[in-house]
Amino acid sequence: MRAVVQDRYGSPDVLELRDVEPPAASGNEVQVRVHATSVNAYDWHVMRGDPYLARLTGIGVTAPRRKIRGRDFAGTVEAVGRDVRRFRPGDDVYGDLGAADGAFAEYVCVSEDLVETKPANLTFEQAAAVPLAGHTALQGLRTLQPGQHVLVNGASGGVGTFAVQIAKSAGATVTGVCSTRNVELVSSLGADHVVDYTEDDFTRNGTRYDLVLDLVGNHSLTALRRALTPGGTIVLSGGGVSSGGSLAGPMWLIIRAKLLAPFARDRLLVLTTTPDRQILTALRHLAESGGFTPVIDRTYSLDEAPDAVRYVETEHARAKVVITV
Ligand SMILES: NC(=O)c1ccc[n+]([C@@H]2O[C@H](COP(=O)([O-])OP(=O)(O)OC[C@H]3O[C@@H](n4cnc5c(N)ncnc54)[C@H](OP(=O)(O)O)[C@@H]3O)[C@@H](O)[C@H]2O)c1
Repeated sequence: MRAVVQDRYGSPDVLELRDVEPPAASGNEVQVRVHATSVNAYDWHVMRGDPYLARLTGIGVTAPRRKIRGRDFAGTVEAVGRDVRRFRPGDDVYGDLGAADGAFAEYVCVSEDLVETKPANLTFEQAAAVPLAGHTALQGLRTLQPGQHVLVNGASGGVGTFAVQIAKSAGATVTGVCSTRNVELVSSLGADHVVDYTEDDFTRNGTRYDLVLDLVGNHSLTALRRALTPGGTIVLSGGGVSSGGSLAGPMWLIIRAKLLAPFARDRLLVLTTTPDRQILTALRHLAESGGFTPVIDRTYSLDEAPDAVRYVETEHARAKVVITV
């Protein structure tokens, strides 16, 4: 099968389209013919082995342990292991491979416990945009109550475009933060207010929010707290912009938050997104009931994967970037 493989850490130039053995399904695994995958910030962090501290979390110290990049997939079940109960060949599915990686490829093999039926109203491209970004948005908003006011910093990005829509459908008042060129997009997703960060600083304009979902990491915890109602919640995603050096990168803010959380008067949560079928099921129901529609910025072919990752690495992609396989 064709797959996007890397042998060493580095820029998107290390990604090569090669012929490799397709993975075979055994036990409770399904083999999926991938029709589309999408790019997440996670992919370029692993591609670069950046920040260095992340290399100690199992991705490989001197070279990537998993050679094929990509987490999100949407496709059709091609074969099943003998213990598979929920799926059969021909079923359309979607999912997130998590740290196993491998979705920038024609086939993936994954436990049926991590796979869900593709939302019926989404194309394969749209479905492939959902798993990790939708999961992150849903997790980031899990404490949100109807009627609360939530601010999404990074509202025009892969996660933010889901977060704005999901928060609206949960009955919240939503403020999105983005640059001028994305104001219209964020409004069109349902945001009640949009802060253009090139003109205004939400941490200094006096408005306070019950929940601040920070997908950018460009403000200190002190600044984020200024924008919070008493007893409110800050959720940190590990956003990459100017939040540390290449040693710890975005992990620095998260490490500090974890250390400070027990002593904080407000709630400080750090997002973790381990693949989970229940989340995929919740996202499927939300998509099918009109709770969100994935927004796709650009679509690339598998041999253009380095360009797709290069674009997401700019941290100025608009919504999701999809690769068709
Ligand atoms: N913890 C987890 O499990 C987990 C899971 C998924 C993602 N994440 C993290 O969450 C972050 C967001 O992910 P993503 O997929 O949404 O990233 P993304 O798609 O790369 O985000 C790009 C967006 O960020 C916006 N942005 C850049 N600088 C900004 C600023 N100063 N203020 C406000 N918005 C700004 C850009 O808008 P403009 O072009 O308008 O500037 C762009 O639309 C990433 O850093 C990722 O690592 C964490």
